Amino acid sequence: MKVVVLLGAPGAGKGTQAPLLAARLGIPVVATGDLFRAAVRDGTALGLEARRYMDAGQLVPDEITIRLLLERLARPDAGDGVILDGFPRTAVQAAALDTALAARDTSVAAAVLVDVPADELIRRMSGRWVCRGAGHPYHEVSSPPRTPGVCDIDGSELYQRADDQPATIRARMDQQLGALGQVIEHYRTSGVLRTVDGLQSIEAVAGAIDAALAEAGVAAAG
Ligand code: AP5
Repeated sequence: MKVVVLLGAPGAGKGTQAPLLAARLGIPVVATGDLFRAAVRDGTALGLEARRYMDAGQLVPDEITIRLLLERLARPDAGDGVILDGFPRTAVQAAALDTALAARDTSVAAAVLVDVPADELIRRMSGRWVCRGAGHPYHEVSSPPRTPGVCDIDGSELYQRADDQPATIRARMDQQLGALGQVIEHYRTSGVLRTVDGLQSIEAVAGAIDAALAEAGVAAAG
């Protein structure tokens, strides 16, 4: 089982890179933010609970998030491995993931940090549009869709996320960056952390992620 963690602050480009990497590695993306947004859309009890935190720019409590992630990892399509986008976000989540993987005789192969300075993060989130179909991200300036308001990939409508309002963007940065620092330290200590410059073009960041994974011994499929 090949497990790659994509790390980065809100808006760093994890959701842009994860599907590109999934196609290269031949394993699915598991994004906790997408799982929570699907639960909100479906109006489940989990979605109602998660929404309170997401709308306030706060992390959803570890217990709920870890349970959701472990259920997703148990599905058959995750058997060969996964790219984790947005998980782990706290030291407790990182430890829970280590335990779950150790039970399968495996561990995180690489944790790739997409590093982007704060002022650019705000610019990226403020101009972001995502599709209703699968959450494919666009940016009104740096990566606009071919037809305004329509996803290039699946043709679904584009919308702006509720948590991309300026006040919530600030809250996400204030309340989540400290915990991200602890997760970075977790993977630095275990020796699997790789850092790429996220200020480059989307294609150049993808190339840098490939190079980092090759260095960590993670090979692309086929
Ligand atoms: P989540 O959905 O994970 O949001 P996030 O981490 O805040 O990350 P984003 O989706 O905002 O950014 P991204 O890094 O994916 O950037 P993107 O590729 O879209 O989580 C949402 C909420 O759910 C959290 O706030 C929390 O409440 C909850 N949650 C989720 N996971 C949790 C967990 N594990 N524990 C607890 N709570 C959890 O790119 C951003 C923009 O930049 C786009 O417009 C894109 O087009 C553009 N862009 C991307 N790359 C480039 C580039 N190289 N150059 C120029 N523009 C670029």
